[in-house]
Amino acid sequence: MRSAFSSTPWYGGDYNPEQWPEEMWGEDVRLMKSAGVNLATVGVFSWAMLEPREGQYDFGWLDRVLEELHLGGVRVDLATATASPPPWLSHSYPESLPVTAEGVRLSPGSRQAYCPSSPAYRAAAGRLVRALAARYGDHPALALWHINNEYGCHVSRCYCDESASAFRRWLEWRYGDIDGLNQAWSTAFWSQRYASFDEVMPPRVTPAYGNPTQLLDFDRFSSDELLACFLAEKAILREVTPDVPVTTNFMGLFRGIDYWTWAPHVDVISDDLYPDPADPDAALKASMARDLMRSLGRGRPWLLMEQATSAVNTRPQNAPKAAGQMRALSYQALARGADGILFFQWRQSAAGAEKFHSGMLPHSGTDTRVWREVKQLGRELRGLGQVMGEPVPAHAATVLDWHSWWAIEQRGLPVHSTYLALIAPWHAALTRAGAVVDFVHGDEDLTGYSLVVAPNMFVATEAQLAALDAAAYAGSTVLVTAQSAIVDESLRVRLNGYLGGLQETLGLWIEEFAPLAGAWARPGFVPVRPEATIAPTIELLGELLPGGRATGVEWAEVVRVRDAEVKATFVGGALDGLPALTRRGTGKGAAWYLATRLEPDAVAALVQTMLAEAGIAITPVHDGTTAGWVETVRRGGLTFVINHGDEPVTLAIDGTDLHSGEPASGRVLAPQEVAAVVPPGSPGSSPMKQVVV
Ligand code: GLA
Repeated sequence: MRSAFSSTPWYGGDYNPEQWPEEMWGEDVRLMKSAGVNLATVGVFSWAMLEPREGQYDFGWLDRVLEELHLGGVRVDLATATASPPPWLSHSYPESLPVTAEGVRLSPGSRQAYCPSSPAYRAAAGRLVRALAARYGDHPALALWHINNEYGCHVSRCYCDESASAFRRWLEWRYGDIDGLNQAWSTAFWSQRYASFDEVMPPRVTPAYGNPTQLLDFDRFSSDELLACFLAEKAILREVTPDVPVTTNFMGLFRGIDYWTWAPHVDVISDDLYPDPADPDAALKASMARDLMRSLGRGRPWLLMEQATSAVNTRPQNAPKAAGQMRALSYQALARGADGILFFQWRQSAAGAEKFHSGMLPHSGTDTRVWREVKQLGRELRGLGQVMGEPVPAHAATVLDWHSWWAIEQRGLPVHSTYLALIAPWHAALTRAGAVVDFVHGDEDLTGYSLVVAPNMFVATEAQLAALDAAAYAGSTVLVTAQSAIVDESLRVRLNGYLGGLQETLGLWIEEFAPLAGAWARPGFVPVRPEATIAPTIELLGELLPGGRATGVEWAEVVRVRDAEVKATFVGGALDGLPALTRRGTGKGAAWYLATRLEPDAVAALVQTMLAEAGIAITPVHDGTTAGWVETVRRGGLTFVINHGDEPVTLAIDGTDLHSGEPASGRVLAPQEVAAVVPPGSPGSSPMKQVVV
């Protein structure tokens, strides 16, 4: 297969010429060239234009678009256009429309109005993909196939009758016979025993809590069902154009789809991410998605397929990006493994549902800040070929698993949890400390990481437990946090102290849970006897904690130590004196356990302890200690320093600034500014031309 990338990073965005008169297409391409655009994603929402009536194709306009782009030297990421079925599909096949858990059939008139299991949708999509592949497979502009668009973005679960049939087939495949399902779903509980697969339903709205394993299996099935749509299109493309790589755009930390199961099937991982410019932690949160994309591809370069040049129109309040913020976030993606920076979309729409979403070419044209920033970035990227294909070495790994995500957010658990709120603080603390973090599924070989953090791994397979154990014995520092390995993959409780095999690794077991939900935290709570309410937090004491103390929130466990050092204890209340943080030396490594959820300053302190024990030393390259987050990442021989804070910092790093050719040390980096530092004596350290905006 040919390479999905070029010698310099891809730069461009979604191009929707069908929204504009044909006379403007030439100007589009001329302006693309002046902005350094070398890749356009075309046809994402063009199905109704390409097939105005069932079986009647109109490719003439797309022929002309591709020709225009080709003549302008712009390559094409050609979409299969199946993300938004045309009106005729739901008119002729109303059963292809998706149905909610409440039984509401969604209407056309927006986008993504299809049931992933619908045979009519799949057949029509397949015919279109085959026609596109046959027509454009040899087109010289074609660089990449863009299958569908943001699978599951609006409809990741469908509960219609066709989905019900597909779910039953999936369950038969998974369990073989109905006894296997009854066993896995523990249907002896609440009289749910099934006599045959025909009786099984998708988890539509029920009077009380649904069967937990049915819910989890429906999450798994729904992710697999969308994957089947992707694979069906990919199979056609592979058959007709075996050399052309395929991608589909992921959506960062998107709950609806288990991207671990998808990633091996995607030639190029790509991501759409819209950090909120009004969120001071936007860049830190964005770094999590960048790290996930790199990790999904096991280190392969990925594509930032979509971002906004400025504001989106999807939030209640849509702040524009600050001057330089788009560039700063683009460099972040590049530094964290992206080999292309693209946007939604090229020309800001004049009509339709997204007309107030920014574009590369804004409503007000080229005499605008946004356009000048777009041109500057395009020009700079052309000078960054040296990062292409280069890996991003990571310091640590964090376990992220969709099964735990789905299961820990179910009802009927000791506390209500939001999975990402449990994972993000660990990634954020490691990242703020300057460590580059890979995400891992947890069942792969983890022994190459000197530090592994496994937060709230609620559902744990035997393979995951074994991998953590192996890493700890081989020399890694492994930190497992509360609510881990409580259940197996069928959501059956790991009896006799929870944790399964990790009891050995950690040298402890759990006697019971002690959730900290304070009575006053409940809506409608009336404090008749306030003195009798339960504290919603719990104090910890221990030398490793900042100032020797920390606060646990929401969750605590009664830990029974067999063979581990107690590094911190709970103070006060029923848990007074019981272990809160433990460490057990394991072979060449160590296994730590934290029996609560900590506030951010304590997470940061603990992360420092873990990094030190793991032998990970990170030297700061600037003097900014209080100025918000200054990101430092190394890739392709360059050290990228990006100031996401709101105060300037001064660089303290040897080498030259790639952009100016000046020595980097002593350079004052203003907020949103970026330095790409070439080490001293490095070949190819000739400066880029300074671009004046
Ligand atoms: C997603 C979609 C685009 C567009 C943007 C707007 O990323 O793929 O078509 O709707 O959102 O932010």
